[in-house]
Amino acid sequence: MSINIAIDGPAGAGKSTIAKKLAEELSYVYIDTGAMYRAMALYFLEHQVDAENEEKISRECRNVEITISYENGEQQVILNGVNVNGKIRSEEIGHMASVTSVYSAVRTKLVELQQELANRENVVMDGRDIGTCVLPDADVKIYLTASVSCRAKRRYDELTAKGETCELSVIEADIAKRDHQDMTREHSPLRQAEDAVLLDSSDLTIQEVVERILALVKES
Ligand code: DC
Repeated sequence: MSINIAIDGPAGAGKSTIAKKLAEELSYVYIDTGAMYRAMALYFLEHQVDAENEEKISRECRNVEITISYENGEQQVILNGVNVNGKIRSEEIGHMASVTSVYSAVRTKLVELQQELANRENVVMDGRDIGTCVLPDADVKIYLTASVSCRAKRRYDELTAKGETCELSVIEADIAKRDHQDMTREHSPLRQAEDAVLLDSSDLTIQEVVERILALVKES
């Protein structure tokens, strides 16, 4: 039986950084499920599919094939045979992913892929519904969060370090909007699973969070 660690939480809580480090320490495979929703969103944007039109989105899902592979330990998302890793990190795609991930046709398709992967290997998987829906029997479940202002500041620092100009208040408003969208949707909303451990990373370093989770893994 493979060992599964589920990490859920809102945008910007540090899930991917933490999950990646954890996977490295444990020699497990890191699976970034948000990247899969982003690849779907890229397809819808490139094909000008109206995000409001559920019927069209559901039909288009049949034309989308998403797989993942690894290059130097980094997850690569393959959309209909093309590696789209370099195209899915923008705010536009993040927003479209949040909006289109509300549809059950989109979720069903990706959840199946995620479950198959977790069945085959020991994984650290991050997302919004991993502990509640994708891997309800995960060995360790973490709900990783941080205050909106703290998440906004981290994002602001990340963007300015890359030389991008941005405004903290705009980022903060975007994060609050995305939280609302992800937490209030009908299908698999973001919420803490009953058996998940809550970790607030606002006042913790990355290494402190990783160590706390490693301790929980050892106990499990
Ligand atoms: O984690 P992220 O920012 O890359 O995710 C982008 C969007 O994808 C997020 O706002 C909601 C959606 N998502 C989801 O619905 N379920 C997941 N397991 C992961 C992401």
